[in-house]
Amino acid sequence: LDNGLAKTPPMGWNSWNKFACDGLNEKVVRESADTIASNGMKEAGYQYVNLDDCWQSSRDADGNIVVDSAHFPSGIKALADYVHSKGLKFGLYSDAGTLTCAKRPGSIGHEYQDALQYAKWGVDYLKEDWCSTLPGQSAESSYTLMRDALADAAKKTGHPILFSLCEWGSNKPWLWAGPVGNMWRSTGDIQDCWDCKKDWGGNGVVQIIDLLDPIYSYAGPGHWNDPDMLEVGNGKMSSEEDRSHFSLWALLAAPLLAGNDIANMSPDTKEILLNKEVIAVDQDTLGIQGHRVKKSGDLEVWSKQLADGGRAVILLNRGPSTASISADWGDIGYPSALKANVRDLWTKKDVGKFAANYTAQVPSHGVVMVRVNP
Ligand code: GLA
Repeated sequence: LDNGLAKTPPMGWNSWNKFACDGLNEKVVRESADTIASNGMKEAGYQYVNLDDCWQSSRDADGNIVVDSAHFPSGIKALADYVHSKGLKFGLYSDAGTLTCAKRPGSIGHEYQDALQYAKWGVDYLKEDWCSTLPGQSAESSYTLMRDALADAAKKTGHPILFSLCEWGSNKPWLWAGPVGNMWRSTGDIQDCWDCKKDWGGNGVVQIIDLLDPIYSYAGPGHWNDPDMLEVGNGKMSSEEDRSHFSLWALLAAPLLAGNDIANMSPDTKEILLNKEVIAVDQDTLGIQGHRVKKSGDLEVWSKQLADGGRAVILLNRGPSTASISADWGDIGYPSALKANVRDLWTKKDVGKFAANYTAQVPSHGVVMVRVNP
């Protein structure tokens, strides 16, 4: 969407993966904003502080959205002001149907009214979900309507709003949402697990990357595929798997929305979320989504072209034991005789100059992530 926003994938925090409905309240949001502003996340690029479902409770007689005052006694405007006072941006959530996924009021029929209200509160980011839609409701028209409502509100307040579509890839948004949204969910809800396809559409990390790979060419500055918010630090995956998850999201040029309790995270989790060299791959200005260039059973090579002519390369081991994986220069678009510098983005060390290929031992469910520069 050409609204001047999301030239690189949006970064920030969202409440849902950790706090869901019952755990969301203004204290959690303030603490998360405090954390981002003070622990290095802000400097690393994390910017948006986003409420997900359950901040709203009902509508008043005029149709205005009413805030859940039990969890947000100070109201949304005060919270947005607080987040802004930390030099951060503020995001909200709604739904294109009658009810949100947690059965709070959706925005259907109230798009202009809601957009104006959000803008007046100072909202910088809206995620719009796809629960309780009407039979036959068109995703493209519904999201276009909200896009227009947000643009109209922005004109009145001088305040642009990033627009994040969340219809889980059901209507192939990569085919039509480039001019409609700044990002679109491409898959069902992420689960805190490495490999776990759920009947209702939930996905583990490896399911999501397999679904994102074939649609890489649709992403670019201002309009990104969204493989969902991060589960790093939520406890069910090993550190190795969390590191792989974060590396793959960066290579996919995914929005990086931390989904954990950032105010109380372990040093391990913090080190993953704050790896600036991996973040730089995600935020590369060329805005190309990386993709898989080689697969041999459980062993894969993924590559992302970067603005300086280099490549970010991931050697990914989906198998049960440590294995050797090679990226051939031919796989990543270089002539074989080329000598290139290889830097490991997790050990943060230059590993040398190589011709023809780079080979490394990769632990089970792990990655070796390098930057290759001719
Ligand atoms: C859907 C979305 C999630 C989250 C929940 C909230 O499942 O895909 O990301 O927003 O709704 O209820």
